[in-house]
Amino acid sequence: MRKLYIAGNWKMNTTTTEAEALVKELKVLVADMTEVDMAVAPPFVYLHKAVYLAKDSQIKVGAQNCYFESKGAFTGEIAPEMLKDVGCDFVILGHSERRHVLGETDEVINLKVKKALAAGLEVILCVGELLEEREAEQTEEVVKTQLLGGLKEISAENMAQITIAYEPVWAIGTGKTASPDQAQDVHAYIRKLLADNFSVDVANIVRIQYGGSVKPENAKELMGQPDIDGALVGGASLKADSFAAIAKAAV
Ligand code: PGA
Repeated sequence: MRKLYIAGNWKMNTTTTEAEALVKELKVLVADMTEVDMAVAPPFVYLHKAVYLAKDSQIKVGAQNCYFESKGAFTGEIAPEMLKDVGCDFVILGHSERRHVLGETDEVINLKVKKALAAGLEVILCVGELLEEREAEQTEEVVKTQLLGGLKEISAENMAQITIAYEPVWAIGTGKTASPDQAQDVHAYIRKLLADNFSVDVANIVRIQYGGSVKPENAKELMGQPDIDGALVGGASLKADSFAAIAKAAV
């Protein structure tokens, strides 16, 4: 049985004061929710404080990106070892905004996945199709390329450190959610790819989150699907009460 995993991707939002309040409030609201894993991914500059505030709680803290080198002349970049050093548990990689706004390729994402795992971080690897790709019936092809590209040369053993997030790009921040059936179909396909390319055991243990306009109102139905093991939440993770309500609705 896979434990539900709800992660909040804050993206480029919050101030110091808001970030601190969000972690503090969340800590209280989810204190007794041991049946679900909870995580937040604040902007880099608030990570240190978030780790400190989330101490002694079940809330994991992670980053929204990292670079694929350990140190050196890479102005503006952050190494996975630095994230580990400030106490991060995980990093989100391959988010659609990194792919489509910042131009990251599957090759770059794969380098980052390998480096993050080597640094001892867990990884949430995001995959998902654009609206035009869905309309052209290319969803499976796109998801397969992104998944296998991002996981190239990753061992079955390392897959225990990986969560996949299926985020159809047309559902991110748009208020349009994939229907539970639409999401379940792609999740089942991802699980089959994991079984075919790694092992049935890997397919059974790896959690696949859904992301794209998840809110308290649709969380229960989405996470009631057999292959949806949690959510990667953007907008609704910026308020502690709605984020906690998503976790409560899911269990
Ligand atoms: P959203 O974002 O919940 O605001 O749609 C999800 C994400 O991009 O991770």
